[in-house]
Amino acid sequence: MTINKTDFGQNFIWGTAQASYQTEGAWNIDGKSPSSWDTFSQKKGKIERNENGNTATDFYHRYEEDLNFLKSMNFKHFRFSLSWPRILPNGTGEINPKGVQFYHKVIDKCLELGLTPWVTIYHWDHPQTLENKGGWTNRKMVDWFSEYTEFVSKEYGSKVKNWMILNEPLTFTIMGYMLGEMAPGKKGINNFRKAVHHANLCQAKGGRIVRKNVTNANIGTTQFTSYIEAHTTKDTKAAERMDALINRLFIEPSLGMGYPESKLFFLKSMKKVMLPGDIEKMKFDFDFIGLQYYFRTVIKKSAFMPYVWAKEVPPIKRGAIANQMNGEVYPEGFYQLMKRFSDYPSIKKVIITENGSCFTDILKDGKVTDNERIEYFKSHLNQVIRAKNEGMKVDGYFVWSLTDNFEWDKGFRPRFGLVYVDYKNNLNRHIKDSGIWFKNLLK
Ligand code: BGC
Repeated sequence: MTINKTDFGQNFIWGTAQASYQTEGAWNIDGKSPSSWDTFSQKKGKIERNENGNTATDFYHRYEEDLNFLKSMNFKHFRFSLSWPRILPNGTGEINPKGVQFYHKVIDKCLELGLTPWVTIYHWDHPQTLENKGGWTNRKMVDWFSEYTEFVSKEYGSKVKNWMILNEPLTFTIMGYMLGEMAPGKKGINNFRKAVHHANLCQAKGGRIVRKNVTNANIGTTQFTSYIEAHTTKDTKAAERMDALINRLFIEPSLGMGYPESKLFFLKSMKKVMLPGDIEKMKFDFDFIGLQYYFRTVIKKSAFMPYVWAKEVPPIKRGAIANQMNGEVYPEGFYQLMKRFSDYPSIKKVIITENGSCFTDILKDGKVTDNERIEYFKSHLNQVIRAKNEGMKVDGYFVWSLTDNFEWDKGFRPRFGLVYVDYKNNLNRHIKDSGIWFKNLLK
């Protein structure tokens, strides 16, 4: 299975992606206030081995080194997110000049190296001061988020043209406000309903704000996806319900289609938190949709899982190959999702804003032989070629991630990087074989 850069066409976008909380560290210096993730991860028992992102990979101090790695691997694009509490420590109001300056330095370094910056406005770390007022469950979030977006788009808009409004609203609403497994650790359907709706409103409003402030902007928002399949024919309806929850809850409102309530009955109750005119307000004409794909999910019906009445049959029970986080390696599902997104008539372009996998990497003599990851990339990139050959509008691919980093509730154990971070030894970086593989592919 040989893959050539030319198979993707001349203008194909190649980059890597990462997020502020997972990499920056520097959680309490230079005027930054705590984020929802600082508070959550510093509580005992929330994160595996009680790890936290206080230092993470110290991107805050090592961004030049990391960007040099990116450049050396022949990538041309860099996706990263802004930490809201670094820029606006109170959530709104007073600006923190040192925080603002940090992102100028990152952006300037990108430009100096010939790398195009792609900015995600929100990748899950909002100021704790706003979480104290309810965070995503408070409809005021739309105003707070608008103020933040107004500021960053004006501040960086002359240098940054590629913007993503939210990263995976599904993940932070379901994990953070329904199941309580991620920050801020809230639970229950009432919190979830509100968080979902306010995230949908912010997703579109953020798009309108960037459009107004940035000339020639390329505006997207990113979505978690998983290829959902029924375990047996008896589970088809359950799989459809899960699919509506996982793959349609944020994309369809943004396309003006409202909530997918015909497949997932409980979404009828979204009306409880909606105001007149909201369907229209959730709509925005994005230039691209960021598709993020990691694994397939096989579903069977379940009387014990309220609202969706469905549960996962994990890969291990099916004898399927899985990664360090029990995500099934299933490239065909990636193709199916590219097809599905391309089939929405109002999606103009699809960009793969995240794809990658975590395996047990071993550092030996400064080298990491991560063949499983190379195979993962080959098999998934082959699906991108297949999609492009069939005329699908897939214009770019961002690897998750440039370096290993803090994997949320799982801590540092899962490693997704093309560059290994030696957590035991001064956070030293070592390029993995997969990084060298990309370097050769992209030269
Ligand atoms: C998130 C990343 C995360 C990655 C791997 C995505 O859901 O956007 O922040 O690290 O998946 O789990």
